[in-house]
Amino acid sequence: MTRSYLVFDVGRYRELAEELVKPEDIVVEVGAAAGDTTVRLARNARLVIAFEKSEEMFERLRERVRDLDNVIVLCEDGFELGEVLKRTERVDAVFIDVGGGAQPRLALALWEAYYSRFRPRVIVVRNRRLCRLIETVERVECDEEV
Ligand SMILES: C[S@@+](CC[C@H](N)C(=O)[O-])C[C@H]1O[C@@H](n2cnc3c(N)ncnc32)[C@H](O)[C@@H]1O
Repeated sequence: MTRSYLVFDVGRYRELAEELVKPEDIVVEVGAAAGDTTVRLARNARLVIAFEKSEEMFERLRERVRDLDNVIVLCEDGFELGEVLKRTERVDAVFIDVGGGAQPRLALALWEAYYSRFRPRVIVVRNRRLCRLIETVERVECDEEV
């Protein structure tokens, strides 16, 4: 069963990268930027597949993880799940940070894409407006299985 975590603070997001990843885990990171979270994920994971779509950031990321043999970096959009499937059928944890202030629909669409295809054990999303929504939820009523 998937457990999702929603945070805004980037420090907390990076802490979760160390707390939630287990030694055999295959992890996907979307929005790796310069690799501050990537290196934390790599401390415990068996494999990290990190997406960063900005070429400028990607160069910094590639340099940062150059000596880590359990990290694959991709200068691609995180929606390119085919890039993940070329390398693994199983994903245990997904970390999504396309910017804390990013459109919530973008973060949600990424959550949905990875949830539907891989049913990972853990999905962590960093998004301020989704945090606001969840903080104000009074009740959840689902009349069918989701
Ligand atoms: C706030 S930064 C991530 C910071 C990172 N979590 C850290 O701990 O340093 C967001 C990054 O997501 C990247 N990004 C935005 N949309 C993306 C997408 N669809 N696929 C891949 N990367 C994306 C941006 O280029 C940016 O570098």
